[in-house]
Amino acid sequence: MNLSLMLKQLLDFPSRIGNTFLLWRKHVVYDSSSLLTWGRLGITGKGVIRIGNNVTIVSSDMINPIAGSGKTHFVTSNHGRIVIGNGCKISNCSITARDLVHIGERCTIGSNCMIADNDFHSLHPELRQNDDWNNTIIKPVLIGNDVFIGARAIILKGVSIGDYAVIGAGAVVTKSVPRGEIWAGNPAHFIRKIDMALEKPASSIPPNLEPSHQNTNA
Ligand SMILES: CC(C)(COP(=O)(O)OP(=O)(O)OC[C@H]1O[C@@H](n2cnc3c(N)ncnc32)[C@H](O)[C@@H]1OP(=O)(O)O)[C@@H](O)C(=O)NCCC(=O)NCCS
Repeated sequence: MNLSLMLKQLLDFPSRIGNTFLLWRKHVVYDSSSLLTWGRLGITGKGVIRIGNNVTIVSSDMINPIAGSGKTHFVTSNHGRIVIGNGCKISNCSITARDLVHIGERCTIGSNCMIADNDFHSLHPELRQNDDWNNTIIKPVLIGNDVFIGARAIILKGVSIGDYAVIGAGAVVTKSVPRGEIWAGNPAHFIRKIDMALEKPASSIPPNLEPSHQNTNA
């Protein structure tokens, strides 16, 4: 382990203690031996939150400064459920459930995304003045396995995202995304299908700059 990582772990120790207490106080179901958190989580509300095994949640720009200094915040109403599958990695995101946000296994959710199964406020101007959540539209959000959501994407109510799909940075996803497709933009639209056989990253480094693996011993 390098020195910089050790120092970050030391600095993060108070947050981890605070998170352990918060997760216990909010009755979050999780595996304490495999959940890795960085930074102080936010959890609001009395709904059900289940976090699978080997999940990493970043809530600090110390570890992921890519899209600013957001936190990870889970917000539920009394009947809200947030389910996060095994092996997910989540960075500085807000996830809000009045009914259900279900995230499958091994998903990567980039920095500063917002995922919500409701509109937070009524669309009717008078009802909005009362500003309780009872007058909002609620539709579950279902995210499959091995989904990658780019930084600052917004996933709106009623959206399902199929396995292996990729959502571009900054996308506003209003419609469901089939499995194995890349969608991006506002509103998010189809970009292309993912070719599972060819989707290995090609090196963009010119050949003369590639590290040499030749044995230089004369
Ligand atoms: C969506 C993404 C994966 C597509 O990558 P790609 O397959 O290499 O796509 P390309 O760069 O070849 O672009 C293909 C087309 O999609 C468009 N596009 C790509 N990303 C886009 C985005 N985020 N929003 C809107 N349009 C996008 C391009 O403009 C291009 O359009 P065109 O065909 O009309 O010229 C990538 O652009 C992206 O957004 N990655 C997420 C990065 C990120 O946020 N990481 C997490 C950090 S925490």
